[in-house]
Amino acid sequence: MSEIKIIAGPSSQVLSKRVSDLTGWSMADVEYRKFPDGESYLRIREEVERAVIIQSTRRDEDIIVLLQLLDACEDAEKHVIIPYFGYARQDKRFRSGEPISSRVIASLIDADSIAVINIHSTEVLGYFSSPIRELDASEELGKYVKTMELQNPVIISPDYGAIELAKKISEVAGCDHGAMKKERFGDEDVRISADDIEVKGRDVVIVDDIISTGGTIREAISILRKKGAKRIAVGCIHPVLAGDSLSKIYRSGAYEVFATDTIETPVSVISVSRVIASHLREIL
Ligand code: R5P
Repeated sequence: MSEIKIIAGPSSQVLSKRVSDLTGWSMADVEYRKFPDGESYLRIREEVERAVIIQSTRRDEDIIVLLQLLDACEDAEKHVIIPYFGYARQDKRFRSGEPISSRVIASLIDADSIAVINIHSTEVLGYFSSPIRELDASEELGKYVKTMELQNPVIISPDYGAIELAKKISEVAGCDHGAMKKERFGDEDVRISADDIEVKGRDVVIVDDIISTGGTIREAISILRKKGAKRIAVGCIHPVLAGDSLSKIYRSGAYEVFATDTIETPVSVISVSRVIASHLREIL
């Protein structure tokens, strides 16, 4: 069998190196640059017969680069890891005249296998025509929470959508969990209630799959503070962190924000590389 090469997409360079270290598969030599008009250019500067392409699609141009990488590997066996698959929240036609954006993108990605990590909506998996698997990084978050010095902690999801995540993290960390109820009125306008959650004097870790504008988390922090929570930390799988959302979250009272490296940010202190490496070892 020919050698497997890791192709590190520009949005997942650090994570790719971590996967390379764990699997022993070396990183291919790839040149990335932009043409003067802003178009993306890339070239894989070696022969690759079996490729593992790792590229999160946080920004629109990340999608273009992923498609370019797939085309550049046309004759190779291709395994794609998309740690963060953007557009997954656009999983249906909410109003007439809208596209199902996640379906548009999924239909363009053609490979021997695809894996994503904790996709926002599992419905999106059905939009891919190549074999796809969702990997779960919640245990990695649980292990991290276990190392935090927390007093009488409770893991809370800001809506019912993330309750499974909170539950899994709490099981690994060995503590309680609960879920708040969320209603969304606009991009940053959410109302959250937490009638049956008791947090007085307890350390709280709010967990969500994605933090984007931070509107959800800020509202959750405000309610939990009013209910007498002691210290509040915030964790997520995918730190989209649009604009100045991170500083807004800190200002609203979180003493720590932590996330995984599905998107490489300053708070990406937990790596999903083990989850990816064990999946790859299983299929290759
Ligand atoms: C939505 O259901 C997701 O799980 C997150 O709660 C949401 O994407 C967070 O968005 P934002 O940070 O903009 O409130």
